[in-house]
Amino acid sequence: MAFETQRLIHTFAALADLGQEIAEKSDFEEMVRSSFHMLLGSLAIRRGALAEYEAGEETLRFIANRGFGDEFPAQLTLKREEVERLLGSFAREAAASERRANLPLDQKELLDRQGVELSIPLIVRGDLIGLVLLGGKASGDPFTDEDRELLDSMARHIGVGIKTHRLLEALEQKAEENRQLYDGLRQIYKDTVRAFATAIDIKDKYTQGHSERVGRYSGLIAGELGWSEDQVEGIMIAGYLHDIGKLIVERDIINAPYRINAKESKELNQHPAAGYEILEPIHHPYADLPLMARHHHERLDGNGYPDGLKGDQISLGARIVTLADSFDAMTTDRPYQKRRTLDEVIIDLRMNAGKQFDPQVICALCRALLKEIQGESKERRFRKLLGKGYIDDERIVPLLVELISDLDPQSTPLAAGRM
Ligand SMILES: [Fe+2]
Repeated sequence: MAFETQRLIHTFAALADLGQEIAEKSDFEEMVRSSFHMLLGSLAIRRGALAEYEAGEETLRFIANRGFGDEFPAQLTLKREEVERLLGSFAREAAASERRANLPLDQKELLDRQGVELSIPLIVRGDLIGLVLLGGKASGDPFTDEDRELLDSMARHIGVGIKTHRLLEALEQKAEENRQLYDGLRQIYKDTVRAFATAIDIKDKYTQGHSERVGRYSGLIAGELGWSEDQVEGIMIAGYLHDIGKLIVERDIINAPYRINAKESKELNQHPAAGYEILEPIHHPYADLPLMARHHHERLDGNGYPDGLKGDQISLGARIVTLADSFDAMTTDRPYQKRRTLDEVIIDLRMNAGKQFDPQVICALCRALLKEIQGESKERRFRKLLGKGYIDDERIVPLLVELISDLDPQSTPLAAGRM
């Protein structure tokens, strides 16, 4: 084979191996080191070092060093003027005799002492990325023009690899910053929602914490229905805000220590539509939120308000908030009535299944309750909301099991306590 052909094959093979090395390695410094070793190996060069240029600090930081002794510096200063000079000499396609001109001038003596023969700046799109410093070939032969071409090509590859890596790193950092910003905004949104929930509940002295609890029950039901984490978070917020329309209702009507009359009731009943008006212009992360507030007093049988919707016309989210709202109303003391026992509540739910409440939503609430009573769910979420002992009545489990199998005959038999 002609020498020229052999040389070309050698060059192509070296470049191909290098390309693969750069593409495959995910560890950046390892990628640089092994690519650099390939560069040295391609011409049997014994000593070499590769530095990355850090413009902000005006330094060349060595990330690979093979064969140069311990006295070799870990980093070198490289002033802006010197960078300009390197970029200039490279742009002129420096002739072989000028190659040593690529050595940083103020470090020339030191590098000469170390036996640096050749200096190749890594330049990508007019930016200095780093510098490759090489000792002589093991054979003692001088570098030929072809050698320098090969080294230049390989150095360009490494330079592009470093640049790409740094760009990706910067991009990841930007993405992380955006993520943090987004998380911050999300937290502000949640805190604002909680502040509103507190404002709503403060207006109603008899139902302290009602909005918070409706949010939590809604989340428990949606979770049981298999909603995603984001959707559960959305419906919890709908629960926190469902009564926001009460902010425009007279405080005396909300706090009346008696059953209110028809006129007062009419004013109170405006709160779901008012809530919708308040929430609708706001851009929420959860699109259905305003409608969930509007429809939390709708009934499956069409006898609810404000729109008198029926069945599927009411979104599942609104049906969940409706049940959570009534469940909290039944399980907390009101000015005109004590809270009911849980067995009474379950009987009420059974009576109203398909009329006021969606049977599948009732089932989900009952299943979540049953899981906690039977210890399948370790979190004491209902117990925290309902107080000690409230759900631990021996009559409860059979009632829940019976209600679930009546409303959802497809469900797995529950008698053994398995869900
Ligand atoms: Fe309400």
